[in-house]
Amino acid sequence: MKGLTAVLNHATDAAIFLHHISTDSTEPVATFFSTGTESLPGLPMETVIYYFTGTGNSLAVARTLSERLGKCRCEPIVSLRKRDGKVQTESERVGIVFPVYYLGVPVVVAEVAGRLDIKDARYTFAVCTLGGSGGSTSLHELDQVLRNGVGGRGLDAGFPVRMPGNNILLYDRSGEGTLKRTFEGAARRIEAIVTAVDNEQRTMPLHTPLHSLLHRAFHPRFVEKVHDADRDFSVDDSCTACGTCAAVCPVGNIRLEDGRPTWLHRCEQCLACIQLCPAEAIQVGTKTGGRRRYRHPDVPVEAIAGQSKG
Ligand SMILES: Cc1cc2nc3c(=O)[nH]c(=O)nc-3n(C[C@H](O)[C@H](O)[C@H](O)COP(=O)(O)O)c2cc1C
Ligand code: SF4
Ligand code: SF4
Repeated sequence: MKGLTAVLNHATDAAIFLHHISTDSTEPVATFFSTGTESLPGLPMETVIYYFTGTGNSLAVARTLSERLGKCRCEPIVSLRKRDGKVQTESERVGIVFPVYYLGVPVVVAEVAGRLDIKDARYTFAVCTLGGSGGSTSLHELDQVLRNGVGGRGLDAGFPVRMPGNNILLYDRSGEGTLKRTFEGAARRIEAIVTAVDNEQRTMPLHTPLHSLLHRAFHPRFVEKVHDADRDFSVDDSCTACGTCAAVCPVGNIRLEDGRPTWLHRCEQCLACIQLCPAEAIQVGTKTGGRRRYRHPDVPVEAIAGQSKG
């Protein structure tokens, strides 16, 4: 109990701690229970997958799911944000793919999800990508946001997929061997998700009072400060004025002045600008100097930049 209190009192340290115990562990991301499997026979259904990504993990998962499910299109969540009021979906199956941020849902994803009317969908699911912990807490948060939102309809299923952690503010990128093993594990996991979605399986990760407690301890602090997180960002003299940082920012939070970035304080903390700068010129205090940058190897910078162009 004393240990738990200390963890809650030092939320940032605990985030690092949680990340490390989880990524070092060989245990599955979450224990699953099924609320009953319904397999509805029939033709392949039309699916839409809404995604948000910073460094490509979630986009890679969305694309693979889309290819494997068939009759499926991927749409960036940030493009829905530009529409006013309720966002109506017409597809029979609706999926949402997003990265876990401090045991919860990215702010922009929650904002759009609250306006997403998915009540007419036959099947709804979400996939979160994460480096270590927070699959259950973030999927249950999203489920609640959807239920309390305009559609009043939550998720039929939620699936975490472990991917390389990209939070360069807390840790260095993994080495090549670990990355390879993580991608292999993710590929197997995605195949299992394809089967579950095809069978319209109703399943959510186990969610206990401890999960709720951890979510409340970490996520609200993140939400409170996220838009101003960029006040700690700076650019060093290695900047070549290439404009990549502004192009990849999913929420238009970077303006180029004389070719160099300035931040507009509506940051989502996706870290794309820091991770994808070809000169590694963007720093956050002394935390990021010397840390290796990360981008999913199958997702080109242009594809990540594409999410804000829709
Ligand atoms: C601000 C921030 C917070 C994060 N918090 C968590 C977390 O609580 N748990 C976790 O396992 N991974 C966490 N991560 C890692 C990402 O969830 C993970 O690397 C994800 O796959 C990144 O997806 P993307 O490449 O689509 O942006 C965090 C990353 C960022 C940038
Ligand atoms: S991506 Fe990097 S090098 Fe290019 S403009 Fe931005 S900070 Fe400068
Ligand atoms: S400013 Fe950087 S970290 Fe913030 S939302 Fe844009 S790309 Fe992401």
